[in-house]
Amino acid sequence: MIKIDALTVRFGGIKPLDELAAEFVAPICGLIGPNGAGKTTLLNVLSGFVTPIKGAILLNETPLLGLSPRRRVSIGLRRTFQQELVVDELTAMENIQAIADHVCADRASARRQVGLALDFVGLAPRRHTLGRQLNLFERRMVEIGKTLIGQPKAILLDEPGAGLNEEETDRLRRLLVKIPSAFDSQLVLIDHDADLIASVCMETLVLDFGKRLAMGSTRAVLNDPIVRRAYLGRA
Ligand SMILES: Nc1ncnc2c1ncn2[C@@H]1O[C@H](COP(=O)(O)OP(=O)(O)OP(=O)(O)O)[C@@H](O)[C@H]1O
Ligand SMILES: [Mg+2]
Repeated sequence: MIKIDALTVRFGGIKPLDELAAEFVAPICGLIGPNGAGKTTLLNVLSGFVTPIKGAILLNETPLLGLSPRRRVSIGLRRTFQQELVVDELTAMENIQAIADHVCADRASARRQVGLALDFVGLAPRRHTLGRQLNLFERRMVEIGKTLIGQPKAILLDEPGAGLNEEETDRLRRLLVKIPSAFDSQLVLIDHDADLIASVCMETLVLDFGKRLAMGSTRAVLNDPIVRRAYLGRA
């Protein structure tokens, strides 16, 4: 469970997060809102790349603020970035291995977990293919594969569905729903695709310029007239 309270971030004159309070309890939670709403900023605060001026965060009862990004990884926090970070000159397997080298206890455990992650994301047949030869979907799978290494407790995905076609989005959807039980991990998903959010997220937080516009069951949130007007552009 991720619990945030009074979280406030200031960049110069703007507050991309402003007294934000929310609890992510469900195994898969959505995080939505218009461009510039503060979604990525919230992930940056959770993962330790941005320091808030105020507030608190708990990950399964452990206070996160004050811990370095590296320490947060070691207690099980994982994320992907909106700009992908697949290394072109490394194979699919080596990209995932690079994380395993840091977070796994020993080489045998690293090898086993990399194999498991490659299988899970469907990249086993492409394990020796260089990053630059992988297509957009396969590169996304590398990024998700990286988050599955080292007993993740919470995985934060920043728009993993962006740019995917319908068939790929469907494959992504089928993969995401399996993660919480397969890895005993909670998932927080940012996406602009309301259908994807509706089909995989039990709970969703809607941000609007740093403030909480709505939070609750995804169905209720997406049907909320305030959300539909502000975010979906329809009443
Ligand atoms: N490092 C930074 N310095 C200054 N302002 C920033 C910085 N990062 C983000 N912002 C601003 O904070 C606000 C929130 O940005 P953020 O990237 O969190 O939005 P977002 O909800 O992820 O949007 P998108 O859907 O476009 O990815 C925006 O006004 C953005 O311009
Ligand atoms: Mg963003």
